[in-house]
Amino acid sequence: MKEIQVGLIGLGTVGCGLVKVLEDNSEILKERLGVPLRLKRVVDIDLESPRPVSVPRKILSTQVEDILADEEIRIVVELIGGMEPAKTFLLEAMKRGKHVVTANKALLAVHGNELFAAAREHQVNIAFEAAVGGGIPLIRTLREGLVANRVGHIYGILNGTANYILTRMAREGTTFADALKEAQAQGIAEADPSLDVEGVDAAHKIAVLSSLAYCCEIDFNQIHTEGISQIDPSDIQFAKDFGYQIKLLAISRSDGDRIEVRVHPTMIPQEHMLAKVEGAYNAIHISGDAVGDVMLYGLGAGMMPTGSAVASDLVDLGRDLLVGSGVRIPPLACEGEALVPRQIKPMDELVTNYYFKFSAVDQPGVLSKISGILGNHDISIASVIQKGRQVKGSVPLVMMTHEARERDVRLALAEIGDLKVVTAPTRLIRVENREAVDED
Ligand code: HSE
Repeated sequence: MKEIQVGLIGLGTVGCGLVKVLEDNSEILKERLGVPLRLKRVVDIDLESPRPVSVPRKILSTQVEDILADEEIRIVVELIGGMEPAKTFLLEAMKRGKHVVTANKALLAVHGNELFAAAREHQVNIAFEAAVGGGIPLIRTLREGLVANRVGHIYGILNGTANYILTRMAREGTTFADALKEAQAQGIAEADPSLDVEGVDAAHKIAVLSSLAYCCEIDFNQIHTEGISQIDPSDIQFAKDFGYQIKLLAISRSDGDRIEVRVHPTMIPQEHMLAKVEGAYNAIHISGDAVGDVMLYGLGAGMMPTGSAVASDLVDLGRDLLVGSGVRIPPLACEGEALVPRQIKPMDELVTNYYFKFSAVDQPGVLSKISGILGNHDISIASVIQKGRQVKGSVPLVMMTHEARERDVRLALAEIGDLKVVTAPTRLIRVENREAVDED
């Protein structure tokens, strides 16, 4: 084979990043792969909008069939995002014996089981390094570098928009709404930021990482997902007073036959490395039984980092094609028969530490009423802060608990919410304490 011919569907930000990486770094890519990677055809429904790269007119098309029907094109890259028609394009490409590359974490999270089954059936590969963590080689780390490990946990800061907003709130004391406006002005947050700030994007990503880490099929709908839009500056200040930072954490943890997979604002100790990850950066902390702790850090989005990740997939698949090895490394690191559904532990059974912020009238006996209900539900208080009146007639009453069970917490907070002295819904933030973060 004198070259590896590639078809690209989708000339958006990531597609342009791929085109630029292939152009700018064509020499080193050729040296490393041994033959050139040639972008033979680029398909997009919009060929007129201005773009930061120029693509020769003769390779542009609006028809996906121009890629699918071309037998010389051995790898199809899908960078259009969304569910359909991306899924159909990938399935069709695999049916025709082509390897595929995608950056589409939403599609992999929701329809990954079907796509991976199709890849096995047609004996082709699916590469998706750009789907999680942008330019950070997370997928390859889990699939290859840590293949000899049982993964204990993954803690990820996987959404740059949310991390940027939380960083601004922590540094400047700004509100969520103001920090979001700033992120939008900087081009970090989308015009509709809901998938990012409500945790859905991070949930897509941790679903993909969990499948890889635990060699299992995941039911995306079972992943508990909470975002950061309800966090206010006082929560961030109270967290600091207790020695914590608030991060939108995507957590995956092995628990016997089941796994925990959840995304929510989380208090982590200020001295933990993840607490120091600021701005739009992503980071992931993985514990392996043989390797110990591993942490990766970098840009989780952007044209060039993501283009770099897609190009790395092309080189990997290109190498397999050159030696005619078929699917040398299965996409989820394990062979088909080893891939089993694994139940996600229900949130009610979660045991962790909690932060509660109650809004209560400032009168004698309130603290004892609240703590009495907590005690009745087996929830033990570790510390309490009550500061001066902030809202006329009510005060924030803040508590950190020892480990408690989520079902008990839910029942206790419902009972507390019914008290006449409680004036607003209680804020709950889960806490990963130092032992849990560092030593499982
Ligand atoms: N919108 C994502 C983020 C990047 O803010 O991290 C793409 O997954």
